[in-house]
Amino acid sequence: MALRVAVIGSGPAGIYTAEALVKQSAEPVEVDVLERLPTPYGLVRYGVAPDHTSIKSIANYLRRVLELPQVRFLGGVTLGAHLSVEDLLGAYDAVVYCTGAMVDRRLGIPGEDLPGSVAATDFVNWYCGHPDVDPDRFTLDTSEVAVIGVGNVAVDVVRVLAKTSEELRATDVPHEVLERLEASQVKAIHMIGRRGPEHAKFTLKELRELGELANADVCVRPEEAVVLGADFPRQVQGNIKILQEWAGREPVGRPRRLDVRFWMRPVEILGAERVEGIKLERTRLSEEGRVVGTGVYETLPVGMVLRSVGYQSVPLPGVPFSEATMTVPNEAGRVREREYVAGWLKRGPTGVIGTNKSDAAETVRTLLADSAGGARAGGPGIDAVLAERGVRPVTYEEWQAIEAAEAELALSLNRGERVKLVGLEAMLRACRP
Ligand SMILES: Cc1cc2nc3c(=O)[nH]c(=O)nc-3n(C[C@H](O)[C@H](O)[C@H](O)COP(=O)(O)OP(=O)(O)OC[C@H]3O[C@@H](n4cnc5c(N)ncnc54)[C@H](O)[C@@H]3O)c2cc1C
Ligand SMILES: NC(=O)c1ccc[n+]([C@@H]2O[C@H](COP(=O)([O-])OP(=O)(O)OC[C@H]3O[C@@H](n4cnc5c(N)ncnc54)[C@H](OP(=O)(O)O)[C@@H]3O)[C@@H](O)[C@H]2O)c1
Repeated sequence: MALRVAVIGSGPAGIYTAEALVKQSAEPVEVDVLERLPTPYGLVRYGVAPDHTSIKSIANYLRRVLELPQVRFLGGVTLGAHLSVEDLLGAYDAVVYCTGAMVDRRLGIPGEDLPGSVAATDFVNWYCGHPDVDPDRFTLDTSEVAVIGVGNVAVDVVRVLAKTSEELRATDVPHEVLERLEASQVKAIHMIGRRGPEHAKFTLKELRELGELANADVCVRPEEAVVLGADFPRQVQGNIKILQEWAGREPVGRPRRLDVRFWMRPVEILGAERVEGIKLERTRLSEEGRVVGTGVYETLPVGMVLRSVGYQSVPLPGVPFSEATMTVPNEAGRVREREYVAGWLKRGPTGVIGTNKSDAAETVRTLLADSAGGARAGGPGIDAVLAERGVRPVTYEEWQAIEAAEAELALSLNRGERVKLVGLEAMLRACRP
């Protein structure tokens, strides 16, 4: 009898887990990848920036895993809503949780909940056409925006705000979103780091792209580009070099302006009914290396604040969760008997897509070592459980029909290879006419 494994979540971690199970297992395996959305690939579809088409093409690798005969995709099935941990353990020999990190970290400052103060998670979901966010959710009717954080997500958000709709036309951005971007009033974008250029989390390639924007001048204040010391990793040295080069640039009158700021932290988002400004405090490092305020303040007259200070995982019902690390406690991927974890839920929301491959391989090694010669669950299959509850999973073939409808839409709009369908209803209509 084959080893039956449920993988929960079809992002990179889930799909690399399925692949590693098929590749590593000496005995036959059957892997079901259960996903709450009708569509696979997690943040590759709903996170990776739409203009990064070469990164998005990783989906072509992931699709080959879903097409393996040992692997099944079951979309529209949510752990916690349609199924419980007990259901899974009754139907499978092992379960691997790969549900990622879906919500934003908070700044914890006054004004954070004012209209116009937006989590990058929501903004990214919006321009990526995630069914959780209405395409009408954002109107870019303000001339100045602050983006808090200097990681790669902040860089993505800044690029999308700075580019023209013409530049984004060939991407898969939903058409309704493209129209909103076309009407954008944004003229100035302030990207704000609470530490120095040497501490910024963005990577060299991503940073360099900001200096090549056709539609925006990039400005750095010379005094904020100064760094102490020289003994930095190569990547950091590259960042510093670019930022110092930008500090010497004069704006050439492009329609938008990007100000990259360092040593400033947000202390209050200002406004009565909605965001009208942000109060920043100049920072320095304490002797222990902590960011501390200096009591010197500056106010920026922004109408929107995009908080891009990292993602975090949410607990899954019935699955252990550490509030301290916001991850599922595990040893080399093992959570409890027959339960495992991989990806961002296992190690926190850092690392690129490829990081999840070795991470998943580790979890699968642990799982296969534990299950060698062990008893099999032997309960009724999950199909019977779902059917009894009236849940009809979206099959891989149905997902392909959604993809085909997105390609057709792109053709009809004279846009790129695909344009995202927005909303669950539209997706289900496309695959179940
Ligand atoms: C905005 C953004 C842009 C990024 N861009 C890049 C990039 O350009 N290049 C790069 O290398 N890396 C990029 N990354 C990092 C990369 O996306 C992550 O390393 C990777 O997606 C993490 O994989 P994961 O499978 O753990 O999580 P995810 O990709 O988030 O996948 C989790 C999946 O689980 C599903 N799920 C959640 N809850 C449930 C549930 N209860 N039941 C069933 N299914 C559920 C979700 O719908 C989702 O499909 C980016 C990250 C972000 C946030
Ligand atoms: N193209 C790509 O390869 C790509 C694209 C997108 C994302 N990713 C990856 O996805 C992961 C997540 O990216 P991310 O940008 O969300 O997270 P991140 O890399 O952890 O960056 C978070 C940023 O927020 C700042 N921050 C945190 N708390 C703050 C606070 N209270 N006030 C002000 N600033 C605060 C951090 O500053 P401190 O350093 O001071 O804490 C940091 O600059 C990363 O590994 C990233 O590389 C990759």
